Amino acid sequence: MADLTADLGFIKLKNPVIPASGTFGYGGEFLQFFDLDLLGAFVMKGVYSEERGGNEPPRIWETPSGLLNSIGLAGPGAEGLRGIIKEVASKTSTPIIVNVCGGNDEEYLEVARVLDVMEEVAMLELNISCPNVRSGGSCPAQSPSDTKKVVRLLKENTKKPLIVKLSPNVSDVPSVARAAEEAGADAISVVNTFLGLALDVKNRKPVFKNFFAGLSGPAIKPLALKIVWEVAEAVNIPVIGIGGIMTGRDVLEFILAGATAIQTGTVNIIEPTGSVRIINETLELMDELKIDNLEEIRGGLNI
Ligand SMILES: Cc1cc2nc3c(=O)[nH]c(=O)nc-3n(C[C@H](O)[C@H](O)[C@H](O)COP(=O)(O)O)c2cc1C
Repeated sequence: MADLTADLGFIKLKNPVIPASGTFGYGGEFLQFFDLDLLGAFVMKGVYSEERGGNEPPRIWETPSGLLNSIGLAGPGAEGLRGIIKEVASKTSTPIIVNVCGGNDEEYLEVARVLDVMEEVAMLELNISCPNVRSGGSCPAQSPSDTKKVVRLLKENTKKPLIVKLSPNVSDVPSVARAAEEAGADAISVVNTFLGLALDVKNRKPVFKNFFAGLSGPAIKPLALKIVWEVAEAVNIPVIGIGGIMTGRDVLEFILAGATAIQTGTVNIIEPTGSVRIINETLELMDELKIDNLEEIRGGLNI
């Protein structure tokens, strides 16, 4: 049987499949469907320092082959999350990643510091993408220098491995990825949602109160795959590919494009056991194609 392990350098995962932030709750919600130990790791919903109620409904809107969301990062705040992390960590040994949010650099650091001292947290994922939240300014992912500043601040003041999650809503994602790498990021995860717009013709209004919303699901897969390939070419740290992954074949496409591991998002919302199916399909396809391990094909396009 093929070897499914995914080696990020700072941690070796039993397989490359990681449910993505915001699509997997805090993990515990999925215990009724399967054993979390089956996963490579999982990412908790993004958290700010204070408790947040999130956006007014609607928060989710179906589109052809996709989903628009404008949740507004509702959550219990960093201190409130501590108990939730301890509870789910007592039920699984799978590495827990927490998605760190902030309205400014100081808040990012405040959240990261609370989580950094928790032994139950394996890694931090810095969400510099923040497409839905009006924080009185643009998000750091929109500029290489802002990205460098916040990544450096966290690397200088925290000890956990830091994954930096990038936005696709910029003209040059590789330059932002390089800035994160130069500032000490341990890995890059890419992509967050693409900004989109849904309109209500009858009322002549945008569907979402915040106007734009984030598009995810199979509709974005080819766009995400392109960006993952570009970013993997641009940096020397591991890349975690995200965007519309629904099958084991999709996983191997992202690995071929240069990703070391992948995250599953929308699939968890429409099929709660989808990530486990994807792990099994990946293994079956590797056996069928006689691929012994993921490194054998990573970034190995015949071009
Ligand atoms: C309902 C919903 C909530 C999300 N919340 C977060 C979040 O809190 N932090 C974050 O970094 N990304 C968040 N995302 C983005 C996903 O983690 C992922 O990057 C995106 O959905 C693309 O993957 P997919 O096409 O497989 O869904 C959210 C996505 C959805 C659909």
